[in-house]
Amino acid sequence: MPEAPIKISSGYLPTESSVVFPIDKSRKSKLKTFLHLICIAGAVWATSSYYKGYRHDPQALTNVFTSQPHPATCAQADPLIPEKHGELWALLSTAISSSDFQLKAVDWLSRAVQIPTESWDDMDPVGVDPRWEVFEPFQKYLLEAFPLVHSTLKLTKVNTYGLIFEWEGSSPELKPILLAAHQDVVPVEPTTIDKWTHPPFSGHFDGEKIWGRGSSDDKNGLIGVLAAVETLISNEFRPTRTFVLAFGFDEEASGLMGAASMAPVLLDLYGKDGFAFIVDEGAGFGREYGTIFATPGIAEKGYIDVHVGVTSAGGHSSIPPDHTSIGILAAMLVQYEKYPFELSFNRDDPLFRTLQCFAGYGNDMPDEFRKLIIASAISDKALHKLTNDISNNIELKSLIATTQAIDMIHGGVKANALPEQAYAIVNHRIAVSSSLADTEARDTELLKSLAHDFNLTYTAFGQNIVGGDSPSKGNLTLRDAFNDALEPAPVTPTGSDDAPYQLFSGTIKATYNSHRSLEGTDNIIVAPGMMTGNTDTVSYWDLSPSIFRYNHQNAGNTTLLEVKGIHTINEFIEIDSFLEMIRFFVILILNSDESTRL
Ligand SMILES: *[C@@H]1O[C@H](CO)[C@@H](O)[C@H](O)[C@H]1NC(C)=O
Ligand SMILES: *[C@@H]1O[C@H](CO)[C@@H](O)[C@H](O)[C@H]1NC(C)=O
Ligand SMILES: *[C@@H]1O[C@H](CO)[C@@H](O)[C@H](O)[C@H]1NC(C)=O
Repeated sequence: MPEAPIKISSGYLPTESSVVFPIDKSRKSKLKTFLHLICIAGAVWATSSYYKGYRHDPQALTNVFTSQPHPATCAQADPLIPEKHGELWALLSTAISSSDFQLKAVDWLSRAVQIPTESWDDMDPVGVDPRWEVFEPFQKYLLEAFPLVHSTLKLTKVNTYGLIFEWEGSSPELKPILLAAHQDVVPVEPTTIDKWTHPPFSGHFDGEKIWGRGSSDDKNGLIGVLAAVETLISNEFRPTRTFVLAFGFDEEASGLMGAASMAPVLLDLYGKDGFAFIVDEGAGFGREYGTIFATPGIAEKGYIDVHVGVTSAGGHSSIPPDHTSIGILAAMLVQYEKYPFELSFNRDDPLFRTLQCFAGYGNDMPDEFRKLIIASAISDKALHKLTNDISNNIELKSLIATTQAIDMIHGGVKANALPEQAYAIVNHRIAVSSSLADTEARDTELLKSLAHDFNLTYTAFGQNIVGGDSPSKGNLTLRDAFNDALEPAPVTPTGSDDAPYQLFSGTIKATYNSHRSLEGTDNIIVAPGMMTGNTDTVSYWDLSPSIFRYNHQNAGNTTLLEVKGIHTINEFIEIDSFLEMIRFFVILILNSDESTRL
């Protein structure tokens, strides 16, 4: 999992600040009447029964006053328990609960954690950089730990360490399922080793938790899938549908050697949209607003680092011009921060559904906020107020809007020499509803007037912006700094007719219930979620329209998407949580296998 996922909304309270509703033309006459009324009735009227903007929207008003939890806009699938494979499932469910199985699960994961498959950002290609060689003993271990997987599934290795296992189903007309995970882990910072309660590659089991780097990102996912498949094979399960396992080996270093080289092979083997759905690591489930929510990631933001470069004549600084390259660059950066991206939020945004789910089912959500979210489903006024509230909440806003952060600056070499060049790097995370082109166009426009005022020749993303005949005191150039810009991911469909999402949701619910011996549909609520980082699935967009970034992992009470210890010291997973993950993969495989809707 790249970077720390951020929590969505714990502790969020809407601001009490008043809201200015943008007014379209059709509303102007309404507004006049409204202002007129205020004049007549005076301040008493204005301050009494006016209820936060709903008053003039009878439909919304009805909703506000009739609603407590209002699940209509967050339809839930029923728990999906294997039927055709019901007997097998009953058997496996009991087996997974046994203490023998627990011992085996501890051993599987603990020994995987003990092999330090770290991946660094600066690694040379496989075969050149000796640091990749640790994947050799790791894969030897996998072979030894999961003999049935290796003797039953067909293994293709890509770029030496990328693993593609095919478990061929008996009905080739059924679309296969892709289960992904990564073998590598974030490096352990050597100076932090003595801060770990148990050494980072000990895989120590204390009776409750398995400790070490990778235990919850993402060797739990990798070993979880393999454990499920090994267990199914050993119980004579033979799939009807084909299942493919894809394990990259440098996800934490952008996935260029692993997933990026495996994707064309998968595309060649299975074709465009060849998979019914893809599951990869991602958010887990946990308590939010007093209710347990699972939030599979169905979207990912885009990404670009913009290099903002200024050049101007050098010379001795005893006879300086009014503005040096550094001064001009500073003006550009001030311009950026003066104009942050505005939040545009509408009902098509995936996070709109997330909020509807929180409002519909979150037991402890503050009433005002709940009413506002629910009303925003039909009232534009409420939607505007909600948008305004979100603008004031940095976590929520960052999930939805395009962001900008000036993260690097460079310029000048000597105190007495005019800098001939200076540059900064502005990092953008691009809104799901926006695009690279939009983001580039906005940055280009933002600096146009300054480029003109400073008499610079302006080139942005390969285009000449200010004509070549303008007097040139220097150059302003915008470009993709590291050539790794990324469009926002296609959004996974999550409607009530979208079979993959329904099956996935039903499987989450069945797993949660089965692990706790519960019955009923709403013990855990499934809501579309989003992560701020990207997983290996950035390479897999062409393989399926339905991608779920989700580990069925209990994040507990703390915060929804924040799994403890990821990327820092003291990473661990509770064995109970790991067993539940294995249970999840077993049910998921059985459900997908018998589904006639996928
Ligand atoms: C840009 O050029 C115009 C016209 O030559 C001049 O008046 C102005 O002072 C210049 N601006 C700067 C910042 O050099
Ligand atoms: C502007 O860029 C052009 C083309 O790279 C270069 O020849 C020129 O010297 C630059 N001007 C200044 C003032 O840096
Ligand atoms: C989580 O919260 C629930 C309800 O507040 C509480 O019963 C439970 O003990 C908490 N669990 C943990 C691990 O803190």
